[in-house]
Amino acid sequence: MTLTAPRPPGDQDRSDADFSDAEFRRVAAFAQRAYGLALQENKKQVVHSRLARLVQDFRCPDIATFCSWLESGNCQAELEAFISALTTNVTSFFRESHHFDIFAEELLKPGLSGLRAGQRLRVWSAGCSTGQEPCSVAMRILDLIPEAAKLNIRILATDIDPAIIAKARAATYPEEEIRGIPPAFRKSFLQPGSGGKFMPDARVSSLIRYAELNLVGDWPMRGPFDAIFCRNVAIYFDKPTQARLWSRFAALLRPGGLLFIGHSERVAGPALEELLSAGITTYRRIQDPKR
Ligand SMILES: C[S@@+](CC[C@H](N)C(=O)[O-])C[C@H]1O[C@@H](n2cnc3c(N)ncnc32)[C@H](O)[C@@H]1O
Repeated sequence: MTLTAPRPPGDQDRSDADFSDAEFRRVAAFAQRAYGLALQENKKQVVHSRLARLVQDFRCPDIATFCSWLESGNCQAELEAFISALTTNVTSFFRESHHFDIFAEELLKPGLSGLRAGQRLRVWSAGCSTGQEPCSVAMRILDLIPEAAKLNIRILATDIDPAIIAKARAATYPEEEIRGIPPAFRKSFLQPGSGGKFMPDARVSSLIRYAELNLVGDWPMRGPFDAIFCRNVAIYFDKPTQARLWSRFAALLRPGGLLFIGHSERVAGPALEELLSAGITTYRRIQDPKR
């Protein structure tokens, strides 16, 4: 298919006939290879619509040429726009709040005296979107350990999408987005930002380090982590990619460390030998003296 003339934004009259099965398979194979994304046949229309928009935005002659640009690996802006177009960044503060309760009850409270004495705590929010997840973790930590920023406590927050990481770093949230934060936490940890928005205060942001990271690529971190939150991300990946991801998380968790995943996700495959169910969509890394 070629998009010979630019179409107006929001144009809805594209049909599957404009986007051949072979082209769809080419795009899907690239998305799988580069990012582990599983684009099913039934997503063909929506993939087409989003690609057509990118073709216009980048003044590319057609989808086939756009695919060649992506496959060349030399078009960073196009690659970033592609992954942004095919994933959703939906998130919220204290989403699936039971995870933050388990984190506080099972990791923080039993370790309080050690943490206060300088013991290390490392948390990874993998696929952190615009930062609400790591900020929720930070607030939960600060609620129990107000001096956390001065201790050996850090949260790594990563996402594949650089534009999203930039938003997370800017950390300004409109009123409707902060409603999920418990009132006492709102009072303690938020400050007014520009334009009537709200910002987590310096204690919250000083615990978090943001970085770009493709979960399907190489990871520079060695761990171990005490907790990994990777929620509503693996849902985009095919089963083998998910299985590899669970095993890689297990290898980076300390024995007894916790993995939190999204409500519609399940750990499967070899990682189940190392990760035991420990609550709703929560897994605990087994104690293994050999490792
Ligand atoms: C639906 S959001 C989930 C945000 C948060 N974890 C939550 O549950 O609220 C999914 C995030 O995963 C990111 N993502 C998708 N594929 C990724 C990949 N291969 N590597 C890293 N992040 C990825 C997206 O950019 C998006 O910000």
